[in-house]
Amino acid sequence: MNNMRKIKFGIIGCGLMGREFASAAARWCHLLKPTAIPEIAAICDKNSDLFDWYLQSFPGIIMATKDYRELLANDEVEAVYCAVPHSLHKDIYIDIIKAGKHLLGEKPFGIDMQANQAILDEIEKHPGLMVRSSSEFPFYPGAQRVARAIQENEFGKIIEVNAGFLHSSDINPNKAINWKRMVDINGEYGCMGDLGLHVFHLPLRMGWMPERVYAQLLNLMPERSDGHGGIVPCETWDNAILNCDVRTEDGRYFPMICKTYRIAPGETDTWYIEIKGTRKSIAYSTKYPKTLMTMDYEPGGTQEWRREDLGYETLFPCITGGIFEFGFTDAILQMWAAFVEELATGNAGDFGCATPEETRLSHRVFTAALESQRDKKAVEILKS
Ligand SMILES: NC(=O)c1ccc[n+]([C@@H]2O[C@H](COP(=O)([O-])OP(=O)(O)OC[C@H]3O[C@@H](n4cnc5c(N)ncnc54)[C@H](O)[C@@H]3O)[C@@H](O)[C@H]2O)c1
Repeated sequence: MNNMRKIKFGIIGCGLMGREFASAAARWCHLLKPTAIPEIAAICDKNSDLFDWYLQSFPGIIMATKDYRELLANDEVEAVYCAVPHSLHKDIYIDIIKAGKHLLGEKPFGIDMQANQAILDEIEKHPGLMVRSSSEFPFYPGAQRVARAIQENEFGKIIEVNAGFLHSSDINPNKAINWKRMVDINGEYGCMGDLGLHVFHLPLRMGWMPERVYAQLLNLMPERSDGHGGIVPCETWDNAILNCDVRTEDGRYFPMICKTYRIAPGETDTWYIEIKGTRKSIAYSTKYPKTLMTMDYEPGGTQEWRREDLGYETLFPCITGGIFEFGFTDAILQMWAAFVEELATGNAGDFGCATPEETRLSHRVFTAALESQRDKKAVEILKS
Protein backbone atom coordinates (compact mmCIF):
# COMPACT_ATOMS: atom_id res chain seq x y z
CA MET A 1 0.00 0.00 0.00
CA ASN A 2 3.09 2.25 0.00
CA ASN A 3 2.43 4.07 -3.27
CA MET A 4 -1.28 4.28 -2.79
CA ARG A 5 -2.96 7.67 -2.51
CA LYS A 6 -3.40 8.59 1.14
CA ILE A 7 -6.42 10.64 2.17
CA LYS A 8 -5.92 12.43 5.46
CA PHE A 9 -9.10 12.42 7.54
CA GLY A 10 -10.18 14.42 10.51
CA ILE A 11 -12.78 12.96 12.87
CA ILE A 12 -15.16 15.35 14.60
CA GLY A 13 -17.06 13.47 17.31
CA CYS A 14 -14.92 10.70 18.78
CA GLY A 15 -17.76 8.73 20.44
CA LEU A 16 -19.40 5.47 19.42
CA MET A 17 -19.27 6.02 15.65
CA GLY A 18 -16.00 7.95 15.50
CA ARG A 19 -14.26 4.86 16.86
CA GLU A 20 -15.99 2.60 14.31
CA PHE A 21 -14.55 4.65 11.44
CA ALA A 22 -11.09 4.78 12.98
CA SER A 23 -11.16 1.02 13.44
CA ALA A 24 -12.23 0.49 9.81
CA ALA A 25 -9.37 2.71 8.64
CA ALA A 26 -6.98 0.66 10.78
CA ARG A 27 -7.92 -2.54 8.95
CA TRP A 28 -7.81 -1.15 5.42
CA CYS A 29 -5.46 -4.05 4.62
CA HIS A 30 -8.63 -6.19 4.75
CA LEU A 31 -9.52 -4.79 1.33
CA LEU A 32 -7.83 -6.46 -1.62
CA LYS A 33 -7.77 -3.72 -4.25
CA PRO A 34 -8.28 -0.30 -2.68
CA THR A 35 -7.29 2.67 -4.81
CA ALA A 36 -6.72 4.94 -1.82
CA ILE A 37 -6.24 4.60 1.91
CA PRO A 38 -7.68 6.79 4.69
CA GLU A 39 -5.29 8.01 7.38
CA ILE A 40 -6.59 9.41 10.65
CA ALA A 41 -4.66 12.67 10.91
CA ALA A 42 -6.70 14.78 13.31
CA ILE A 43 -9.37 14.22 15.93
CA CYS A 44 -11.76 16.52 17.71
CA ASP A 45 -14.18 16.04 20.57
CA LYS A 46 -15.45 18.24 23.38
CA ASN A 47 -14.51 15.39 25.69
CA SER A 48 -10.74 15.02 25.64
CA ASP A 49 -10.94 11.83 27.74
CA LEU A 50 -11.72 10.08 24.47
CA PHE A 51 -8.41 11.02 22.86
CA ASP A 52 -6.20 8.36 24.55
CA TRP A 53 -7.65 5.40 22.64
CA TYR A 54 -7.10 7.21 19.34
CA LEU A 55 -3.61 8.45 20.17
CA GLN A 56 -2.51 5.00 21.30
CA SER A 57 -3.98 3.29 18.23
CA PHE A 58 -3.03 5.86 15.55
CA PRO A 59 0.50 7.20 15.88
CA GLY A 60 -0.06 9.28 12.69
CA ILE A 61 -2.46 11.68 14.47
CA ILE A 62 -0.98 15.16 14.26
CA MET A 63 -3.75 17.07 16.03
CA ALA A 64 -6.17 16.36 18.88
CA THR A 65 -8.37 19.30 19.73
CA LYS A 66 -11.56 20.23 21.57
CA ASP A 67 -12.33 22.94 18.98
CA TYR A 68 -13.50 21.67 15.60
CA ARG A 69 -12.60 25.00 13.95
CA GLU A 70 -8.97 24.30 14.76
CA LEU A 71 -9.23 20.93 12.98
CA LEU A 72 -10.87 22.58 9.97
CA ALA A 73 -8.06 25.14 9.77
CA ASN A 74 -5.53 22.34 9.37
CA ASP A 75 -4.54 22.23 5.68
CA GLU A 76 -3.35 18.63 5.94
CA VAL A 77 -6.90 17.44 6.59
CA GLU A 78 -8.55 16.64 3.25
CA ALA A 79 -11.76 14.98 4.40
CA VAL A 80 -13.82 14.81 7.59
CA TYR A 81 -16.01 12.22 9.24
CA CYS A 82 -18.46 14.00 11.51
CA ALA A 83 -20.40 11.99 14.12
CA VAL A 84 -21.91 14.46 16.59
CA PRO A 85 -25.40 14.85 18.11
CA HIS A 86 -28.12 15.86 15.65
CA SER A 87 -28.56 19.41 16.98
CA LEU A 88 -24.98 20.16 15.83
CA HIS A 89 -25.20 18.69 12.31
CA LYS A 90 -26.26 21.89 10.58
CA ASP A 91 -23.60 24.25 11.93
CA ILE A 92 -20.70 21.82 11.94
CA TYR A 93 -21.44 20.23 8.52
CA ILE A 94 -21.78 23.71 6.97
CA ASP A 95 -18.48 24.81 8.53
CA ILE A 96 -16.77 21.64 7.25
CA ILE A 97 -18.00 22.30 3.72
CA LYS A 98 -17.10 25.99 3.90
CA ALA A 99 -13.58 24.93 4.96
CA GLY A 100 -13.30 23.00 1.66
CA LYS A 101 -13.20 19.51 3.19
CA HIS A 102 -14.94 16.45 1.78
CA LEU A 103 -17.47 15.11 4.25
CA LEU A 104 -19.02 11.86 5.34
CA GLY A 105 -21.67 13.10 7.74
CA GLU A 106 -23.93 11.08 9.96
CA LYS A 107 -27.65 10.68 9.63
CA PRO A 108 -30.19 12.17 9.88
CA PHE A 109 -28.04 14.86 8.24
CA GLY A 110 -29.65 17.79 10.04
CA ILE A 111 -31.98 17.69 13.04
CA ASP A 112 -34.99 18.62 10.88
CA MET A 113 -35.98 19.52 7.33
CA GLN A 114 -34.82 23.15 7.61
CA ALA A 115 -31.40 22.15 8.93
CA ASN A 116 -31.09 19.51 6.20
CA GLN A 117 -31.97 22.07 3.51
CA ALA A 118 -29.39 24.53 4.88
CA ILE A 119 -26.70 21.83 4.63
CA LEU A 120 -27.79 20.95 1.08
CA ASP A 121 -27.74 24.64 0.09
CA GLU A 122 -24.13 24.89 1.25
CA ILE A 123 -23.19 21.71 -0.64
CA GLU A 124 -24.57 23.23 -3.83
CA LYS A 125 -22.12 26.12 -3.51
CA HIS A 126 -19.17 23.68 -3.43
CA PRO A 127 -19.55 21.32 -6.40
CA GLY A 128 -15.93 20.16 -6.10
CA LEU A 129 -16.53 18.55 -2.71
CA MET A 130 -17.84 15.07 -2.13
CA VAL A 131 -20.46 14.91 0.59
CA ARG A 132 -22.27 11.74 1.63
CA SER A 133 -24.18 10.40 4.60
CA SER A 134 -23.38 7.32 6.60
CA SER A 135 -25.75 4.34 6.21
CA GLU A 136 -24.03 0.97 6.30
CA PHE A 137 -26.76 -1.68 6.30
CA PRO A 138 -27.32 -1.75 2.52
CA PHE A 139 -23.70 -2.95 2.29
CA TYR A 140 -24.60 -6.34 3.79
CA PRO A 141 -24.41 -9.03 1.08
CA GLY A 142 -28.08 -9.92 1.68
CA ALA A 143 -29.17 -6.31 1.24
CA GLN A 144 -27.16 -6.12 -1.99
CA ARG A 145 -28.91 -9.26 -3.26
CA VAL A 146 -32.25 -7.57 -2.54
CA ALA A 147 -31.11 -4.44 -4.40
CA ARG A 148 -30.14 -6.56 -7.41
CA ALA A 149 -33.47 -8.38 -7.33
CA ILE A 150 -35.29 -5.03 -7.35
CA GLN A 151 -33.21 -3.87 -10.32
CA GLU A 152 -33.99 -7.12 -12.18
CA ASN A 153 -37.68 -6.43 -11.47
CA GLU A 154 -38.94 -10.02 -11.48
CA PHE A 155 -41.54 -9.60 -8.73
CA GLY A 156 -44.56 -9.46 -10.99
CA LYS A 157 -46.96 -7.15 -9.16
CA ILE A 158 -45.47 -6.03 -5.87
CA ILE A 159 -47.93 -6.96 -3.13
CA GLU A 160 -46.11 -5.19 -0.29
CA VAL A 161 -42.72 -4.14 1.00
CA ASN A 162 -41.73 -4.34 4.66
CA ALA A 163 -38.57 -2.63 5.83
CA GLY A 164 -37.36 -1.73 9.27
CA PHE A 165 -34.69 -1.23 11.85
CA LEU A 166 -35.34 -2.54 15.35
CA HIS A 167 -33.62 -1.93 18.67
CA SER A 168 -34.72 -3.15 22.07
CA SER A 169 -32.60 -1.74 24.90
CA ASP A 170 -35.10 1.07 25.66
CA ILE A 171 -37.54 -1.58 26.91
CA ASN A 172 -35.56 -1.37 30.15
CA PRO A 173 -37.36 1.33 32.19
CA ASN A 174 -34.19 1.79 34.25
CA LYS A 175 -32.06 2.75 31.26
CA ALA A 176 -30.99 6.33 31.88
CA ILE A 177 -31.91 9.05 29.40
CA ASN A 178 -29.19 10.23 26.99
CA TRP A 179 -29.10 12.81 24.18
CA LYS A 180 -30.76 10.40 21.72
CA ARG A 181 -33.93 10.57 23.87
CA MET A 182 -34.05 14.39 24.16
CA VAL A 183 -36.07 16.36 21.62
CA ASP A 184 -33.82 19.43 21.65
CA ILE A 185 -30.69 17.38 20.81
CA ASN A 186 -32.00 14.35 18.92
CA GLY A 187 -34.89 16.16 17.23
CA GLU A 188 -38.65 15.94 16.97
CA TYR A 189 -38.35 12.91 14.68
CA GLY A 190 -37.26 10.79 17.66
CA CYS A 191 -36.59 7.21 16.55
CA MET A 192 -37.13 8.17 12.88
CA GLY A 193 -34.21 10.62 12.95
CA ASP A 194 -32.01 8.08 14.63
CA LEU A 195 -32.93 4.96 12.68
CA GLY A 196 -34.94 6.12 9.66
CA LEU A 197 -32.28 6.73 7.00
CA HIS A 198 -31.05 3.19 7.58
CA VAL A 199 -34.51 1.98 6.54
CA PHE A 200 -35.07 4.37 3.62
CA HIS A 201 -31.60 4.43 2.00
CA LEU A 202 -32.11 1.27 -0.06
CA PRO A 203 -35.76 1.90 -1.05
CA LEU A 204 -34.95 5.48 -2.05
CA ARG A 205 -31.96 4.32 -4.11
CA MET A 206 -34.36 1.98 -5.90
CA GLY A 207 -36.64 4.93 -6.69
CA TRP A 208 -39.27 4.01 -4.10
CA MET A 209 -40.07 7.48 -2.79
CA PRO A 210 -43.43 7.32 -0.98
CA GLU A 211 -46.17 9.63 -2.24
CA ARG A 212 -48.06 9.66 1.06
CA VAL A 213 -47.68 8.36 4.57
CA TYR A 214 -49.90 7.43 7.47
CA ALA A 215 -47.79 7.33 10.59
CA GLN A 216 -48.31 5.70 13.96
CA LEU A 217 -45.79 7.11 16.41
CA LEU A 218 -45.52 5.82 19.96
CA ASN A 219 -43.92 7.28 23.04
CA LEU A 220 -44.00 4.16 25.20
CA MET A 221 -41.72 5.49 27.95
CA PRO A 222 -42.66 9.12 28.58
CA GLU A 223 -40.34 9.24 31.60
CA ARG A 224 -36.85 7.89 32.22
CA SER A 225 -34.26 7.80 34.89
CA ASP A 226 -31.89 10.77 34.77
CA GLY A 227 -29.06 8.47 35.83
CA HIS A 228 -28.73 10.24 39.19
CA GLY A 229 -31.71 8.83 41.10
CA GLY A 230 -34.32 11.18 39.58
CA ILE A 231 -36.99 10.81 36.91
CA VAL A 232 -37.23 13.17 33.93
CA PRO A 233 -39.66 13.48 31.00
CA CYS A 234 -38.62 11.56 27.86
CA GLU A 235 -40.52 13.14 24.98
CA THR A 236 -39.02 11.49 21.91
CA TRP A 237 -40.93 8.94 19.84
CA ASP A 238 -39.80 5.42 20.74
CA ASN A 239 -41.42 3.55 17.87
CA ALA A 240 -42.67 4.56 14.43
CA ILE A 241 -44.71 2.69 11.86
CA LEU A 242 -44.84 4.51 8.54
CA ASN A 243 -47.50 3.13 6.23
CA CYS A 244 -46.32 4.48 2.88
CA ASP A 245 -47.89 4.49 -0.56
CA VAL A 246 -45.33 3.96 -3.32
CA ARG A 247 -46.15 4.41 -7.00
CA THR A 248 -44.55 2.05 -9.51
CA GLU A 249 -43.36 3.13 -12.98
CA ASP A 250 -46.49 1.64 -14.54
CA GLY A 251 -48.77 3.70 -12.32
CA ARG A 252 -49.76 1.08 -9.74
CA TYR A 253 -49.28 1.53 -6.01
CA PHE A 254 -47.94 -0.78 -3.34
CA PRO A 255 -47.84 -0.41 0.44
CA MET A 256 -44.38 -0.03 1.99
CA ILE A 257 -44.48 -0.44 5.75
CA CYS A 258 -41.39 0.97 7.39
CA LYS A 259 -40.70 0.50 11.09
CA THR A 260 -38.13 2.21 13.27
CA TYR A 261 -38.40 0.82 16.79
CA ARG A 262 -36.35 1.53 19.86
CA ILE A 263 -38.59 -0.84 21.80
CA ALA A 264 -38.80 -4.08 19.83
CA PRO A 265 -38.63 -6.94 22.34
CA GLY A 266 -35.59 -9.10 21.74
CA GLU A 267 -34.11 -7.18 18.80
CA THR A 268 -30.61 -5.83 19.28
CA ASP A 269 -29.85 -4.27 15.90
CA THR A 270 -32.14 -5.85 13.35
CA TRP A 271 -32.31 -4.31 9.87
CA TYR A 272 -34.60 -6.03 7.44
CA ILE A 273 -36.29 -5.72 4.07
CA GLU A 274 -38.88 -8.00 2.54
CA ILE A 275 -40.58 -7.70 -0.83
CA LYS A 276 -43.59 -9.82 -1.64
CA GLY A 277 -44.66 -10.09 -5.27
CA THR A 278 -47.01 -12.19 -7.38
CA ARG A 279 -44.03 -13.86 -9.17
CA LYS A 280 -41.14 -13.48 -6.78
CA SER A 281 -40.61 -12.66 -3.13
CA ILE A 282 -37.40 -11.98 -1.26
CA ALA A 283 -36.57 -11.40 2.39
CA TYR A 284 -33.37 -10.48 4.21
CA SER A 285 -32.74 -9.62 7.86
CA THR A 286 -29.50 -8.99 9.73
CA LYS A 287 -31.04 -11.13 12.50
CA TYR A 288 -29.95 -14.11 10.41
CA PRO A 289 -27.13 -12.38 8.57
CA LYS A 290 -26.17 -15.35 6.38
CA THR A 291 -29.68 -16.20 5.28
CA LEU A 292 -31.41 -14.95 2.16
CA MET A 293 -34.98 -16.13 1.62
CA THR A 294 -36.46 -16.16 -1.87
CA MET A 295 -39.57 -17.59 -3.45
CA ASP A 296 -40.14 -17.87 -7.19
CA TYR A 297 -43.67 -18.63 -8.19
CA GLU A 298 -44.97 -19.87 -11.54
CA PRO A 299 -48.76 -19.70 -11.97
CA GLY A 300 -50.24 -22.94 -10.62
CA GLY A 301 -46.86 -24.08 -9.28
CA THR A 302 -45.85 -24.77 -5.72
CA GLN A 303 -45.13 -21.96 -3.28
CA GLU A 304 -41.88 -22.76 -1.51
CA TRP A 305 -39.48 -20.39 0.20
CA ARG A 306 -35.85 -21.18 -0.55
CA ARG A 307 -33.14 -20.47 2.01
CA GLU A 308 -29.63 -19.70 0.86
CA ASP A 309 -26.61 -19.27 3.09
CA LEU A 310 -24.75 -16.22 1.87
CA GLY A 311 -21.03 -16.03 2.29
CA TYR A 312 -18.67 -13.08 2.30
CA GLU A 313 -19.93 -11.66 -1.01
CA THR A 314 -18.80 -8.05 -0.87
CA LEU A 315 -18.97 -5.08 -3.21
CA PHE A 316 -15.30 -4.34 -2.50
CA PRO A 317 -13.24 -7.55 -2.49
CA CYS A 318 -11.57 -8.56 0.77
CA ILE A 319 -9.10 -11.10 2.07
CA THR A 320 -11.91 -13.01 3.83
CA GLY A 321 -12.86 -16.25 2.08
CA GLY A 322 -16.27 -16.39 0.45
CA ILE A 323 -17.37 -19.19 2.80
CA PHE A 324 -17.17 -17.01 5.93
CA GLU A 325 -19.76 -14.75 7.57
CA PHE A 326 -20.25 -11.01 7.24
CA GLY A 327 -21.10 -8.66 10.15
CA PHE A 328 -21.68 -5.06 11.29
CA THR A 329 -18.02 -3.99 11.24
CA ASP A 330 -17.68 -5.47 7.75
CA ALA A 331 -20.62 -3.33 6.61
CA ILE A 332 -18.91 -0.26 8.09
CA LEU A 333 -15.70 -1.14 6.22
CA GLN A 334 -17.59 -1.63 2.93
CA MET A 335 -19.39 1.70 3.34
CA TRP A 336 -16.09 3.44 3.98
CA ALA A 337 -14.54 1.67 0.99
CA ALA A 338 -17.40 3.07 -1.15
CA PHE A 339 -16.75 6.59 0.20
CA VAL A 340 -12.98 6.48 -0.23
CA GLU A 341 -13.22 4.84 -3.67
CA GLU A 342 -15.65 7.49 -4.89
CA LEU A 343 -13.50 10.26 -3.46
CA ALA A 344 -10.37 8.87 -5.11
CA THR A 345 -11.82 7.86 -8.49
CA GLY A 346 -15.14 9.68 -8.86
CA ASN A 347 -16.89 6.33 -9.04
CA ALA A 348 -18.28 4.39 -6.08
CA GLY A 349 -18.97 1.26 -8.08
CA ASP A 350 -22.31 -0.52 -7.89
CA PHE A 351 -23.71 1.08 -4.73
CA GLY A 352 -22.43 4.32 -3.23
CA CYS A 353 -23.03 5.87 0.16
CA ALA A 354 -26.31 7.68 0.82
CA THR A 355 -26.40 10.98 -1.04
CA PRO A 356 -27.46 14.39 0.28
CA GLU A 357 -30.49 14.16 -2.02
CA GLU A 358 -31.49 10.85 -0.39
CA THR A 359 -31.24 12.49 3.03
CA ARG A 360 -33.47 15.31 1.73
CA LEU A 361 -36.10 12.82 0.61
CA SER A 362 -35.92 10.98 3.93
CA HIS A 363 -36.55 14.29 5.76
CA ARG A 364 -39.64 14.84 3.57
CA VAL A 365 -40.97 11.46 4.70
CA PHE A 366 -40.23 12.01 8.42
CA THR A 367 -41.68 15.54 8.39
CA ALA A 368 -44.87 14.27 6.72
CA ALA A 369 -44.99 11.47 9.29
CA LEU A 370 -44.97 14.02 12.15
CA GLU A 371 -47.86 15.85 10.47
CA SER A 372 -49.72 12.58 9.97
CA GLN A 373 -49.34 11.70 13.65
CA ARG A 374 -50.47 15.19 14.70
CA ASP A 375 -53.55 15.28 12.46
CA LYS A 376 -54.34 11.53 12.49
CA LYS A 377 -54.55 11.38 8.72
CA ALA A 378 -52.53 10.28 5.69
CA VAL A 379 -50.28 13.09 4.42
CA GLU A 380 -49.09 13.75 0.86
CA ILE A 381 -45.28 13.95 0.77
CA LEU A 382 -43.72 16.93 -0.97
CA LYS A 383 -40.75 15.96 -3.12
CA SER A 384 -39.42 19.48 -3.61
N1 LIG B 1 -24.32 4.77 11.22
C1 LIG B 1 -24.69 4.21 12.35
O1 LIG B 1 -24.90 3.01 12.44
C2 LIG B 1 -24.85 5.07 13.57
C3 LIG B 1 -24.98 4.48 14.84
C4 LIG B 1 -25.09 5.32 15.95
C5 LIG B 1 -25.10 6.69 15.79
N2 LIG B 1 -25.01 7.22 14.54
C6 LIG B 1 -25.02 8.70 14.33
O2 LIG B 1 -23.73 9.19 14.63
C7 LIG B 1 -23.82 10.48 15.22
C8 LIG B 1 -23.14 10.45 16.58
O3 LIG B 1 -23.72 9.39 17.33
P1 LIG B 1 -22.83 8.54 18.36
O4 LIG B 1 -23.65 7.34 18.69
O5 LIG B 1 -21.44 8.36 17.86
O6 LIG B 1 -22.88 9.55 19.59
P2 LIG B 1 -21.87 9.68 20.81
O7 LIG B 1 -22.62 10.45 21.85
O8 LIG B 1 -21.27 8.37 21.17
O9 LIG B 1 -20.72 10.59 20.21
C9 LIG B 1 -20.89 11.93 19.85
C10 LIG B 1 -19.64 12.67 20.25
O10 LIG B 1 -19.75 14.03 19.82
C11 LIG B 1 -19.04 14.80 20.78
N3 LIG B 1 -19.39 16.21 20.65
C12 LIG B 1 -20.48 16.85 21.10
N4 LIG B 1 -20.42 18.16 20.79
C13 LIG B 1 -19.26 18.35 20.13
C14 LIG B 1 -18.63 19.49 19.54
N5 LIG B 1 -19.18 20.70 19.57
N6 LIG B 1 -17.42 19.30 18.95
C15 LIG B 1 -16.83 18.09 18.93
N7 LIG B 1 -17.39 16.98 19.46
C16 LIG B 1 -18.59 17.11 20.04
C17 LIG B 1 -19.45 14.19 22.11
O11 LIG B 1 -18.56 14.55 23.15
C18 LIG B 1 -19.42 12.70 21.77
O12 LIG B 1 -18.19 12.10 22.09
C19 LIG B 1 -25.31 10.82 15.25
O13 LIG B 1 -25.64 11.56 14.13
C20 LIG B 1 -25.99 9.45 15.21
O14 LIG B 1 -27.28 9.49 14.64
C21 LIG B 1 -24.87 6.44 13.44
